[in-house]
Amino acid sequence: MAEAVKTAEKSVSERPVVVSAVGLTKVFRDFWNRPKAKAVNDIDFEVREGEVVGLLGPNGSGKSTTVKMLLGLLYPTGGRLTVFGKSPRDVENKKLIGYLPEETYLYKYLTAFETLDFFASLFGLSKEERTRRCDQLLDMVGLAHARNRPVGEFSKGMARRIGLAQAMINDPAFLILDEPTSGLDPLGCREVKDLIKLLKKRGKTVIVTSHLLSDVEEVCDRIIVLYGGRIRANGGMDDLLTIRASDTITVPRLPDDAIERIRQIVRESVPDGEMSVAHPHMSLEDFFVDIVNEAKMESLETSGSRSGGAIAEYLTGDKERDAKAVLDSLTHEEETPARTLERKMEEDAKKAAEEAAKKRQDELFAQLQASAPVPEEEKSRQEQQKIEEKMSEANRKLKDLLPNPPDKKD
Ligand SMILES: Nc1ncnc2c1ncn2[C@@H]1O[C@H](COP(=O)(O)OP(=O)(O)OP(=O)(O)O)[C@@H](O)[C@H]1O
Ligand SMILES: [Mg+2]
Repeated sequence: MAEAVKTAEKSVSERPVVVSAVGLTKVFRDFWNRPKAKAVNDIDFEVREGEVVGLLGPNGSGKSTTVKMLLGLLYPTGGRLTVFGKSPRDVENKKLIGYLPEETYLYKYLTAFETLDFFASLFGLSKEERTRRCDQLLDMVGLAHARNRPVGEFSKGMARRIGLAQAMINDPAFLILDEPTSGLDPLGCREVKDLIKLLKKRGKTVIVTSHLLSDVEEVCDRIIVLYGGRIRANGGMDDLLTIRASDTITVPRLPDDAIERIRQIVRESVPDGEMSVAHPHMSLEDFFVDIVNEAKMESLETSGSRSGGAIAEYLTGDKERDAKAVLDSLTHEEETPARTLERKMEEDAKKAAEEAAKKRQDELFAQLQASAPVPEEEKSRQEQQKIEEKMSEANRKLKDLLPNPPDKKD
């Protein structure tokens, strides 16, 4: 292969080979069978189980053509290509592969749920299992609220999300994602990246193409850079990107005199060396995500896609709990002044409701006591009193009726 290829890749692991391409070539021909474009030009590469490989390159460099050959959608003009040790056209492979195409093609009159259900039915899943997976995936990609909306109405980002959900419906061992983050907002991009990380944890093999280099950098173990249908670089991310000629030390903010002393040490150690001091920057993506999360916490309305929910249960396993936590944390509410105020108002309302309930309870108790039956002892005492009253009344009447007794004589 060409000398220009930087093979910084370390010796390949013992894991099974998922993709093997040797001298892979694709030439598109015109109507008269004359070569029109050499889209892929004699490339060799391998992808092993559990690897996340980024396929990079400028427009027209042959990324999508390579991906379509892996899927058996295009025939190679030359070379040898196997996927799971078989021809890419092998029917058995279809069950093992999930594919997100560059463009999301959807039946615009089907709803989001019906779309996923349709693809799930192609894999022969039971109705119950289909419903379970579709709902979990819709939640995961942040489209649960749009479950019953026709996908024809979806924005580009929403269509991309449904495409991603569709690629995962069969819980595939090998995912091929062509520009997965295109059309997604930074929050969506982050969710996709976390999802790819989770898939990696589960031992899935992933090939991802992207123009957004920072996305690839974050999730891929290895990158293959194409230019004009040829491989220009192929290697582990660290090996290719680490600048070993300098060191970065991050410390808490230092006083000026401390920096001067360090400068002195550097001058003594590396007489010709330059030392620069700067504050670290947060990425624009982190900044943007923070702002959107804050707005979300203030409950500002949006009719578009929302942040994704938890990773679909069937895609996670016990081992992935920690990875799930990463995604959960993205949707967790952080403390902000607005949130503190909101919480205080909630607590006050709760307290007022409790006090009202207690007052009402006391009133009811008083009413109950008033209408409660008189205890036995009290009852008999009252009856006795009534009898006594009646007897003294009777005695009085009797006394009035009887003549006065004659005076006693001695
Ligand atoms: N069906 C086709 N017929 C003719 N030429 C094609 C066809 N598909 C791709 N090509 C050509 O093959 C080359 C590689 O295209 P490909 O779509 O693989 O590039 P890509 O790297 O995916 O680009 P992008 O970043 O724009 O998606 C281009 O020159 C393109 O014009
Ligand atoms: Mg492409």
